[in-house]
Amino acid sequence: QQESPLQGRSIVVTAGPTREKIDGVRYISNYSSGKMGFAIAGAAAKRGALVTLITGPVHLETPPGVKRIDVESALEMHAAARTFFQSCHIFIGAAAVADYRPAAPYERKMKKEAEEIEITLVKNPDILAEFSLQKSTKQLAIGFALEMQSDIDNARKKLESKQLDLIAFNFFDRKTSGFEVDTNILTLIERSGKTTELPQLTKHDAAERLLEVIEKQYGSKSPL
Ligand code: PMT
Repeated sequence: QQESPLQGRSIVVTAGPTREKIDGVRYISNYSSGKMGFAIAGAAAKRGALVTLITGPVHLETPPGVKRIDVESALEMHAAARTFFQSCHIFIGAAAVADYRPAAPYERKMKKEAEEIEITLVKNPDILAEFSLQKSTKQLAIGFALEMQSDIDNARKKLESKQLDLIAFNFFDRKTSGFEVDTNILTLIERSGKTTELPQLTKHDAAERLLEVIEKQYGSKSPL
């Protein structure tokens, strides 16, 4: 069997949701289960890559050979990811990072007194974009885009604005694709415009197909 171009390379994968604290007992989050990111991390480790998996709160076992870093909020994920930016060869953002967080989370439990309350949200840093916009020509930045089925053009816009090497578009459907389910329907859009529509696959098989494309892209770059 031929050696993978990912053998010995350092890959950072983000996975799962983030939790953004409202107060000591409540948070804002989303339905990400971490399955897609964990499948990618496992498949990359099987290819001999040195994988660091930075994950929000999920109920999944760490894939064999993967170094796992558990975080809760987007700010924590950002801080953890930043420490790897310089030294990683490939950054894959499969996490559903909350775009906003409460501006001033209350330390203790908020009391149920007012009829209405307002929570001011502020923007979180975009972890993938930060890596991608500062990456060297020898590093790859891979993102995901979760959009409605008809909004694939938004995925293309994210590829452009974040200057990604590849974006995996998936759409939200409770039965076949996106959050929580064991399968996904990915469309892989490369920087060159090359587009590969994958059928409905298990998240493990979808991860394999994604890594095959990444192997081709990375194989054509010289190592750091
Ligand atoms: O975890 P599962 O239940 O298996 O579900 C998988 C998934 C649907 C979460 C995954 O396949 C997926 O699509 N992840 C990205 C979800 C998303 O909402 O992406 P986005 O369009 O908000 O962001 C685009 C890209 O930027 C993503 O790669 C994201 O990780 C990254 N990002 C976004 C915001 C932010 N503050 N920091 C980031 O790094």
